[in-house]
Amino acid sequence: MDDLTPLRQQWLDRINGATDPAAIEEVRLAALGKKGEISLKMRELGRMTPEERQTIGRALNELRDELDAALRARKLSLEDAALEARLAGEWLDVTLPGRPRPQGTIHPISQVTEEVTAIFADMGFAVAEGPQVESDWYNFDALNIAPEHPARQEHDTFFMHRAPGDNRPPHVLRTHTSPVQIRAMQDQGAPIRVICPGRVYRMDMDQTHTPMFHQVEGLAIDRDISMAQLKWTLEEFCRAFFEVGQVELRFRASHFPFTEPSAEVDIRCDWSGGQLKIGEGDSWLEILGSGMVHPKVLRAGGIDPDQWQGFAFGMGIDRIAMLKYGIPDLRAFFESDLRWLRHYGFAAGDVPSVAGGLSR
Ligand code: DAH
Repeated sequence: MDDLTPLRQQWLDRINGATDPAAIEEVRLAALGKKGEISLKMRELGRMTPEERQTIGRALNELRDELDAALRARKLSLEDAALEARLAGEWLDVTLPGRPRPQGTIHPISQVTEEVTAIFADMGFAVAEGPQVESDWYNFDALNIAPEHPARQEHDTFFMHRAPGDNRPPHVLRTHTSPVQIRAMQDQGAPIRVICPGRVYRMDMDQTHTPMFHQVEGLAIDRDISMAQLKWTLEEFCRAFFEVGQVELRFRASHFPFTEPSAEVDIRCDWSGGQLKIGEGDSWLEILGSGMVHPKVLRAGGIDPDQWQGFAFGMGIDRIAMLKYGIPDLRAFFESDLRWLRHYGFAAGDVPSVAGGLSR
């Protein structure tokens, strides 16, 4: 049989000319398949003399092995190239900056809640939470508001519906965040330092009242906590929150069933020129209620009033948000008006912190 060199070259060229796995397979069948050219040639060996068979047989075997190896190598390199191309095509730059004009903004209530949390966290207060549908006992009794106490009426409570004949104790939409004080005391015991921000509900609706609004409760209990520490804590808070160098607070004697003594706290401010300035001027604005936790309240929370004492306060989040950001109408908070949200909203991603700045 003749020289195999041209045959070899011809097949190697076809192998190298194949550009995808299907073409490679086609070449393999045409050369090495059952009816492939090389296979057919090997079958012809039977008709040759023993000498021819020996030399040509060996040459054909070598050619078959060489082509087989070339086919495999070409297939691998095509697969590699396909993977490279795919990786290049699907490449995604995760370092791209965010879109310059995000659609959404952070609602002022969320922003202020974060600001308040950041300031109190800096003073060692943790955040505690409780349910918005609360039992009568947590919302009133445990806070020393007896069933006949006038405060029950003042709270304009929403009662949860009970089927006739269902005699379980009533549940209410919590009218203040104070019940979370009781839950936190029961859960954590003393000493304790928590704030409890959240939604509260009262049946009331006018320019300065909405049926749902937000409060933040504060509670600090230890062996020798006093009114002086309450005053310092609130002054520090107001200075940080309103971002002014100096604030002045006025404590007015008041009454709350859950504190004794109790004080309402006003902040010095100035309304001249129609603009509110905190920390100067001749006006006073009430911003919160506070006092020393009543012994009965401590006991309801499972804490011994002979060993421990503490202060508590409750503040309207919506109210301090209006004061800080000059928002005139409370109801706008809950109307979901996009133009209002774009005007008063905050950039997403600017997480308030005491060190990094509260509002920018
Ligand atoms: N719970 C009161 C309210 O809703 C606010 C309040 C006053 C909370 C005095 C307190 C406090 O913890 O000590 O009007």
